[in-house]
Amino acid sequence: MKLFDVYPIFNIEPVKAQGSYVFDKEGKKYLDFYGGHAVISIGHTHPHYVKRIESQLENIAFYSNSVVISIQKELAEKLGNASGYPDYNLFLINSGAEACENALKLASFHTGKPRVIAFDKAFHGRTSGALQVTDYAKMKASFNAGTGSDFLPLEDLAAVENELKKGDVAGIIIEGIQGVAGIVEPSVEFLQGLRSLADKYEAVLILDEVQSGYGRTGKFFAHQHAGIQADVVTIAKGMGNGFPIGGVLIHPKFKASSGLLGTTFGGNHLACAAALAVLEVMEEESAITNAKMLGDYLIKELTHINKVKNITGKGLMIGVLLEDGKQIRDNLLFKHSIFTGGASNPDILRLLPPLNITKLECDMFLNALREECGQ
Ligand SMILES: Cc1ncc(COP(=O)(O)O)c(C=O)c1O
Repeated sequence: MKLFDVYPIFNIEPVKAQGSYVFDKEGKKYLDFYGGHAVISIGHTHPHYVKRIESQLENIAFYSNSVVISIQKELAEKLGNASGYPDYNLFLINSGAEACENALKLASFHTGKPRVIAFDKAFHGRTSGALQVTDYAKMKASFNAGTGSDFLPLEDLAAVENELKKGDVAGIIIEGIQGVAGIVEPSVEFLQGLRSLADKYEAVLILDEVQSGYGRTGKFFAHQHAGIQADVVTIAKGMGNGFPIGGVLIHPKFKASSGLLGTTFGGNHLACAAALAVLEVMEEESAITNAKMLGDYLIKELTHINKVKNITGKGLMIGVLLEDGKQIRDNLLFKHSIFTGGASNPDILRLLPPLNITKLECDMFLNALREECGQ
């Protein structure tokens, strides 16, 4: 059997990883400014993370959600406190798309309405419900034509209100900061306006923090920069530092009932141990403060680089629009051994390093970029 060939891949095979670095078969060392797509939050193979997963594995790795699993409660408690959502309830799944899928379903269950408002260039995952609110035609099969979501321009509150007035909208879904679109930030006023409109029309406000959450932007969630609270928050990526886990944070006004949501693997013992290890390391190493500090430093230095045409984002979720960006991204990887992320616009570099990256590692990246920009 061969692999189903859907990924454009670089011909590099990492076989080992540690901290902010990955190593290929020949022992060549790469600086990871991509974090395996915003997934590596506390650095690769962090010793505490490895130890916690190992000791969990020695006891019990999995049992179905038909029994008491105390480690889920431990995770919910710690996550509630760390995220500023202590009164919310947690539903655990395995990925970002599943988190969004369940959030959309909850909005519809709760309001009894069918439609969801999403925004231009939104990306919420590739399962069928998540695809309904994902604005990339190429990813959709005719099977996904569905009940129709509306994609509205970011920042257009009047357009949002027009749709809400129709009375059939269950919810509004928005990324804390759009990732795949190339690090596009909704303004504080827009997020606050969405909060007010959702309240006025009794629609559910869903914040997709799968990429922008977990401390990446210098606060636990990106939408917290706007001082708002969401009704539902979706998380994944950095939550498990590579162990597949996702979650939905749910306002207490949503009523749970037996069988409303469900999953086989979601919330398994091993995944919860990984997620707890991530939160423990984040706390121990002040990872969120580090993300803010080094994010500010990177942005300040980037503004002085010749070919940089625009910088977006916050903390360690930064988009850099470059003259010849695509070529520079390749050169960073193949000449300087530095991974960065791409975006729907190939001239945008997405910077998503581990949250505990060091200043020295930031300088290594900046020096390589300066060289590529002729400085
Ligand atoms: C904002 C956002 N939502 C959802 C997803 C889907 O997550 P997953 O690939 O884990 O299903 C992604 C993945 O990139 C994302 O960036």
